[in-house]
Amino acid sequence: MADLSIDFAGIKSPNPFWLASAPPTNTGDQIMRAFDAGWGGAVWKTLGNPIVNVSSRFGGIDYGNTRLMGLNNIELITDRPLDVNLREIREVKRRYPNHAVIASLMVETKEEWKEIIERAEEAGADGHELNFGCPHGMCERGMGSAVSSEPKVLLEIARWAVEFATKPVIIKLSPNVTDIVEPGEAVLESGAHAISLINTVKSIMGVDLDRMVPLPRVGSGSTNGGYCGPAVKPIALHMVGELTRHPGIAKLPISGIGGIANWRDAAEFIALGCTSVQVCTAVMHYGYRIVEDMIEGLSDFLDARGMKSVMDLRGRAASAYKNWGELDLAYRVVADINPDKCIGCQLCYVACMDGAHQCIHLPGRTEAESRKAGHTHIPKFVPERAVTAKGGATGARVPYVDEDECIGCNLCQLVCPVSGCITMKEMSSGKPHECWDDRVQNGTDFVPGGLRVTEAARAKRSS
Ligand SMILES: Cc1cc2nc3c(=O)[nH]c(=O)nc-3n(C[C@H](O)[C@H](O)[C@H](O)COP(=O)(O)O)c2cc1C
Ligand code: SF4
Ligand code: SF4
Repeated sequence: MADLSIDFAGIKSPNPFWLASAPPTNTGDQIMRAFDAGWGGAVWKTLGNPIVNVSSRFGGIDYGNTRLMGLNNIELITDRPLDVNLREIREVKRRYPNHAVIASLMVETKEEWKEIIERAEEAGADGHELNFGCPHGMCERGMGSAVSSEPKVLLEIARWAVEFATKPVIIKLSPNVTDIVEPGEAVLESGAHAISLINTVKSIMGVDLDRMVPLPRVGSGSTNGGYCGPAVKPIALHMVGELTRHPGIAKLPISGIGGIANWRDAAEFIALGCTSVQVCTAVMHYGYRIVEDMIEGLSDFLDARGMKSVMDLRGRAASAYKNWGELDLAYRVVADINPDKCIGCQLCYVACMDGAHQCIHLPGRTEAESRKAGHTHIPKFVPERAVTAKGGATGARVPYVDEDECIGCNLCQLVCPVSGCITMKEMSSGKPHECWDDRVQNGTDFVPGGLRVTEAARAKRSS
């Protein structure tokens, strides 16, 4: 069985699955229950000077039958006294010496950073996560995401932390920045030992149209909150990818956070270069026990691929994340409908007609009918295939993809309700590998049919 244990900047953990700093890590009792369930580490709910919270404080977005596709909160850091939290950290570490217990911290002045880091270490925390990510309430007080968006301030505070700490310093970054590499480079320069990301995305969850108040509602008002859960996973993956392809930042261990709910999500973050992953929303939704499936799933995946440890998977996909200009313009796929699976719902047809390239055809139409429907390219022959799949519409026929016209955009595959019915099949384009950067290099980065002034400039350049 593959070795799931990790060493994250010197912090040892029996597996890469950590709880993110949030309500599931509010108290020592909760964290001990989580460790019993199988979590390898926990980042304590952010410590600092205790705050006052409001109610209500969460908002959710459902999509179709899926509850909590996204979660938003306007909760601040811990509202419990520091002494109580530190006493509980000590107790958790005493009872679970081999699990990772990280103190998430957020204070303001240099003196405060010194005191809180020293006290967290006295309590036995294995490391510190500096919360430079919270995008509501605390940022208005100059903390949280206000720090991530000012690399100079980030650099200064991170340097203080490195100076005061004897344990690893992890910087938790906010996604509410234009370019994640800027705060990433500041972390690198500061000498901090690791990065975690993402914290939540600034958001308003909706508007109560009866009361005319945004959500979540606190009496007659609301404020922007932080968005997380499955909806933010693509944003988090992108930001991780930006950091792990940076030659300097990639050397730092990264803890990936954002929409992770199962082993596959976790494996994707690790494949992009993360050493550990953190989970909040999925645990708030389904409880600590989801980690059992995560452990089993990741273990099986590593075994099936002959990988001996999490570190064998780490970063495997990182170098495949490229700039657009490096992508192969000669690579070509087309949609391929499996007639045995098609139920004849025509969703692919509608999507391709109105949202793509009008190259899916309905059998049985005359050329005039096809033109009237909006097709401009009409294949000579559209084969008739009756729908035979179980649950298929009576009398329906399988749509036909005109492969010569298909641009391989994936849209029909994405809307098809039957799993595996539409696949994208590779076709030879008959052209040699070429990317846009090659064209720039060769002076052929111009596509006819554009502006006259551009064409004239290109002609001058190549003469
Ligand atoms: C209710 C709630 C409270 C949170 N509190 C904190 C916090 O105190 N400190 C912190 O660094 N992040 C906090 N977060 C952010 C999470 O740690 C995490 O970065 C974010 O939710 C993304 O992960 P997810 O998609 O798994 O939820 C909070 C998130 C939620 C939903
Ligand atoms: S891949 Fe795009 S262009 Fe091709 S058939 Fe599907 S929707 Fe149409
Ligand atoms: S969306 Fe899928 S199931 Fe529906 S008609 Fe198209 S191929 Fe068939």
